[in-house]
Amino acid sequence: MIVYRTKNDLSLHLDAIRKSGKSIGLVPTMGALHKGHTSLVEKAAGENGALVVTIFVNPTQFNDPADLEAYPRNLDKDLEILQSMKVDIVFVPSVKEMYPEEDKRSFDLGNLDKVMEGKHRKDHFNGVAQIVSKLFETVKPDRAYFGQKDFQQLIIVRHLVDLLNLDITIVACPIIREVDGLAMSSRNIMLNTEDRNLAPFIHITLQLAREKRGFLAPAEVKSWVISQFENQPRMKLEYFEIVEDKALQHVNDWGEKVNKVGCIAVQLGGVRLIDNLFFD
Ligand code: PAF
Repeated sequence: MIVYRTKNDLSLHLDAIRKSGKSIGLVPTMGALHKGHTSLVEKAAGENGALVVTIFVNPTQFNDPADLEAYPRNLDKDLEILQSMKVDIVFVPSVKEMYPEEDKRSFDLGNLDKVMEGKHRKDHFNGVAQIVSKLFETVKPDRAYFGQKDFQQLIIVRHLVDLLNLDITIVACPIIREVDGLAMSSRNIMLNTEDRNLAPFIHITLQLAREKRGFLAPAEVKSWVISQFENQPRMKLEYFEIVEDKALQHVNDWGEKVNKVGCIAVQLGGVRLIDNLFFD
């Protein structure tokens, strides 16, 4: 496994790989790797001749400096995990390497960044678009792998590929859960024991909400979810929305011929957790 720190060194290696006719897979991460990430790595390794995993905590997607500061980082352990998975190439750039100067680009993400996460995390998705476009430009992958836990991000990355007219296949990978249903996230290790025990309530509520679609309208399901969190003093529901899976428009009627997904964000002991579940 080779660890690169500069775009230049990485590009030289990737040029040689491309010339040899191998396809290139990209798994972009912010480190603090867990089984969600390793499932992406396994899938990407099986589908490509060469694989690049990137580890970079991207400052431009954090709207809160305290959140950026607190974001878990464990590079030695991450590299150990990737080494054991026989990953070919890891890219660990510095902030200066990715942003030699301020990135002033503003991406037209339409309605996609106006809802849900976009409402609560100002400019978050523009920051994601900035770094993902830079990684795409550097790695020029044939396929890039994103987890469905960050559902809105996945839809926005697909939009970005269209916007920039890139020939990259975006591969969506299923959410990996702990045995008690909590969606795996790098942020989970920031939960204290009490909050970690409470956290599966989020997934349980999503499942119960899905069951209610037989007899409650979408707006009523939303009110029911809101009421469930009112009984949870340690949890603050940021949003729960039922949206379709292309333009992220609200679903008003179960009869709509669209794929429906329930998306949720909750603050628990200062840790922000997101999850989602297909409601079809
Ligand atoms: O999902 C993440 O970990 C990040 O948003 C990504 C895609 C690596 C961009 O920084």
